[in-house]
Amino acid sequence: MALRFACFISSCREGRMADRMVKLIQAQFNQTMQPKGHQLELIDPVKYDLPLLKKPLHFYKDRSEAPEILQTLNEKVEQSDCFLILTAEYNMNLPPALTNLMSQLPPPSFEYKPSGLISYTLGTRGGLAACVAARPYLAELGCLPVKHMTTVSSVHQEVNEDGSTENHFITESLDDLFQQVAWWGEATKLKRHTDGVPAKKGYF
Ligand SMILES: Cc1cc2nc3c(=O)[nH]c(=O)nc-3n(C[C@H](O)[C@H](O)[C@H](O)COP(=O)(O)O)c2cc1C
Repeated sequence: MALRFACFISSCREGRMADRMVKLIQAQFNQTMQPKGHQLELIDPVKYDLPLLKKPLHFYKDRSEAPEILQTLNEKVEQSDCFLILTAEYNMNLPPALTNLMSQLPPPSFEYKPSGLISYTLGTRGGLAACVAARPYLAELGCLPVKHMTTVSSVHQEVNEDGSTENHFITESLDDLFQQVAWWGEATKLKRHTDGVPAKKGYF
């Protein structure tokens, strides 16, 4: 079953390491997932350039009055079957650009779809703290993270500017992550199509 993956980028920093990580992910995805018919869409906070969160889309009584860029972003998320979260680690936590982007959107756009975490740092911890912080956040949005995570330490040495790496543990880890996300992605897509999702009685 062909799936649409959406990959969120977490950094807006000039000279960000995110760019080489994106190239690495794209290359690996093209090699192992594209032949199976899967597609990868990037969601970049630099491209969307949203202001600090003042009014999320779901707080508009009439969503057609929300900024068009927000509606476009939401359509992309709604059309996705699963998510990859490419996160840096800022102060042992998620970078604000990531949560500022994702929190603008209604949780139902993410719900009943899996996510997979990829983190990186210049240092030796690989962004594990950001991944741990991401898990409850993603659960709250309703796109539960799969078990596997890909963490990349010393990203400036392990991944070249063009996205290439000599470290086969990184590419193998990405493949494991893609497989797990695809497994859950196919299962949830099928279930959404056959049975829909449970109706909600309360707001939370
Ligand atoms: C505000 C800020 C906080 C950071 N906090 C951490 C941290 O908690 N742990 C860590 O390993 N690296 C930390 N770093 C270093 C980042 O791992 C490094 O700058 C990385 O390149 C950030 O990703 P980016 O270049 O895509 O923005 C921090 C960097 C910034 C800018």
